[in-house]
Amino acid sequence: MRCGYHGWIYGLDGALRTVPAQKGYGDRPVKPGACDYGMAPLPGFAAYRGFVFGRLTADGPSLEQWLGPLTGSIDNFIDRSPEGAVEVAGGVLRYDHACNWKFFMENTLDALHPMVVHMSAARPARAVAAALPEGDNAMHFELQALAPFTASYDFYDSMGGRVMPHGHADLGGRASIHSDYASDETYWQAMVDGHGADKAAGILSLSRNNSIAYPSLMFKAPVQLLRVVRPVAVDRTIIETWHFRLKGAPPSMFHRTIAYSTMVNSSAGMVGPDDHEMYRRMQAGLKAGQPEWIELGRHADPGAPDPDGATQVEGTSDAFFRGQFQAWRDLMEVA
Ligand SMILES: [Fe+2]
Repeated sequence: MRCGYHGWIYGLDGALRTVPAQKGYGDRPVKPGACDYGMAPLPGFAAYRGFVFGRLTADGPSLEQWLGPLTGSIDNFIDRSPEGAVEVAGGVLRYDHACNWKFFMENTLDALHPMVVHMSAARPARAVAAALPEGDNAMHFELQALAPFTASYDFYDSMGGRVMPHGHADLGGRASIHSDYASDETYWQAMVDGHGADKAAGILSLSRNNSIAYPSLMFKAPVQLLRVVRPVAVDRTIIETWHFRLKGAPPSMFHRTIAYSTMVNSSAGMVGPDDHEMYRRMQAGLKAGQPEWIELGRHADPGAPDPDGATQVEGTSDAFFRGQFQAWRDLMEVA
C-alpha cells in the first residue's frame, strides 16, 4: 500500500516498508519496520464466513451479536453456491448519488415505490412478454427481471420481511421479485450434489429482495450482488456494487448477475437511474422544511419479535425505516 502523498509504502500487515527519501531524518526512527510509523490497526475486526467487518472503536458487541439473525441472510447468500463459497468477480460499479446515504438505505427496503418509480421499465417488459409467441420457453432473463417491478401492492406485502435489532432488515423471504427467475438445470443439479435435495430446495426457496446490515451494507442473495454505502457529504453518497460468483455453479449464474447489475444497478441501466432521480428530488424537497415530520406510521404495530429478535413484518411496512432511525438515534446518543 503506497501513500498517495509522499509515497511511503506499507506492507499488508501495515508495517512501514519503504520511505523514498530516508536521508535527512538524522537519529529519528524513520526507517522500514519502524513501529511508530506503521499504519494504525483497526481497534476491532472480525469475519463471518469470509466477510470481514471492521470498526473504529474497541468497545461494542461482537460481530455475531451485532449481526444477530441477519447471519441467516448472509448464510443464504453464500449457500446458494453448491460449494458453500462465493468469490468477488467482474469488477465494481461505483456511482455518485446526489442524496444523503439514508435515502439509499431506506429505498432498498421500500416496497411502495417500484410500481410507481420503475413503471417506465417494467410496463414495456410486461408488454413484450405478453406478445411472445406461444410456446416460447426461452429464459428471457431481462423480461423476468424487469416485469416484477410493477407487481401489485398485495404481492409486495405478501413477500414479508424481517426487522432486526441495530437497524438490520430483510425485505422479502416468502417470495421476492426474484422468485420466478428461470435458471440453468445444471445449477439445480450442482446444488443437489453439493447440499442434498432437501437442503438445496430450502436454500433456493428463501427469496429475499434485499438484506441490510445497517448502516452501510446491502446484499441481494438471489442475484449475488452486494452494495456498499460510502457517505461523502450530507447530500452526496457513493454506492458501490460488487458482484459474486457462486463457486461450483455453471457460468450462466454469473452471467445472470452481471445482466441484472448492468440492467438495474448501472447508471446506464433501466431501473437505477429512476431511483437516482428520486433521491435527488427528495433531497431537494426536504429543504422545504415542512411538513416537519415524514410519515412513517404504516403498519404501526408489527407485533412481538421472534425468539431470535427478528420481527416479521409485511413487505410494505414502515417498520423497516423506524428500525433504521431507531438504530441511528441509538448510535448518535452514544458519546
Ligand atoms: Fe427502486
